[in-house]
Amino acid sequence: MSPSQDYLDLKNWLDETADVPCESMDAFFDSRIDGYEEHMSFWREHYGLVAGLVPAGARTLLDLGCGTGLELDRIFERLPDIRVTAIDLSDAMLAKLLEKHGGRRLEAVKGDYFVYDFGESRFDSAVSVESLHHFTAEKKAGLFGKIYRALRPGGIYIECDYIASVPEIEELTFSECRRRRERDKIPEEQYIHFDTPLTLEHELGAMRAGGFEEIEVVKNLNGTPIIVAKKHGSEQ
Ligand SMILES: C[S@@+](CC[C@H](N)C(=O)[O-])C[C@H]1O[C@@H](n2cnc3c(N)ncnc32)[C@H](O)[C@@H]1O
Repeated sequence: MSPSQDYLDLKNWLDETADVPCESMDAFFDSRIDGYEEHMSFWREHYGLVAGLVPAGARTLLDLGCGTGLELDRIFERLPDIRVTAIDLSDAMLAKLLEKHGGRRLEAVKGDYFVYDFGESRFDSAVSVESLHHFTAEKKAGLFGKIYRALRPGGIYIECDYIASVPEIEELTFSECRRRRERDKIPEEQYIHFDTPLTLEHELGAMRAGGFEEIEVVKNLNGTPIIVAKKHGSEQ
C-alpha cells in the first residue's frame, strides 16, 4: 500500500527541519506567546465544541496544558462561575491566561501535570486541548489514571488533540524524536517540544489502561477527534 498524503507531507517537513535543534517545552511556548492565539485560531470551532461538552451542572474543572486559556475563554462564556484549576509549564502562557481571566474562580498552577497532585474525587470535569501529543502511551496511561482518580464519580474528561492518522506517522515521529534527542544529548525525562501523536486506537487504549471504561469519540473535525471519557459512577 502506498503511504498516505499526511505521512508524505510530514516526512517532507521532518526532512526539511532535520537539523533544527531541540527546544525544551516551556522555552518553546514562552518564546511563542506573541501571535500564539492567532496561530491557534485554526481550532476555533474545536474550542467551542469542547466548551459545549462540559456538563451544565459542573462546578469544578481541571485543565491540563491550559496555555493562554483558549478553551477556558469559551468555557467561562457558558459557565462563568465554574471553579477552574489550570496547569501549564509556561510562565508566559499562564501570565496571558491571568491577564484575561484573573477575576474568575481560577487557580493557575505553574507545573507539570505528570507530577502535580490532582487529588482524589475533586473535579466534576477535566479537559485537555492540544497538549498531550508529545508523550508516550505508557506515560499517558499513568496520567489518565491520575485524571480518573481526580474526577468525581460520573465526572467526565474531555480531550481534543492531534492524532496520528496512520500508524506509520506514530512510528515516524517517535523514531525522529529519539534521533534528535540522541543527537542533542537530551535525557529522556526532559520535555522537548516535538510532536509525537498516537493513533486513535493507542490513545483510547491508554485511556482504558488509566481506568476509563466509558469512552466515546463524539466528533472528528478536520482529523482532530474530541473524546469524552467518563468515570464510573452516578451522574452529578
Ligand atoms: C499547544 S499548547 C495548548 C494550550 C491550550 N490548551 C490551547 O489549546 O490553546 C500546549 C500547552 O501544553 C503545555 N504543556 C506541555 N506539556 C506539559 C506538562 N507536562 N505539564 C503542563 N503543561 C504542559 C505547554 O506549556 C503549552 O502551553
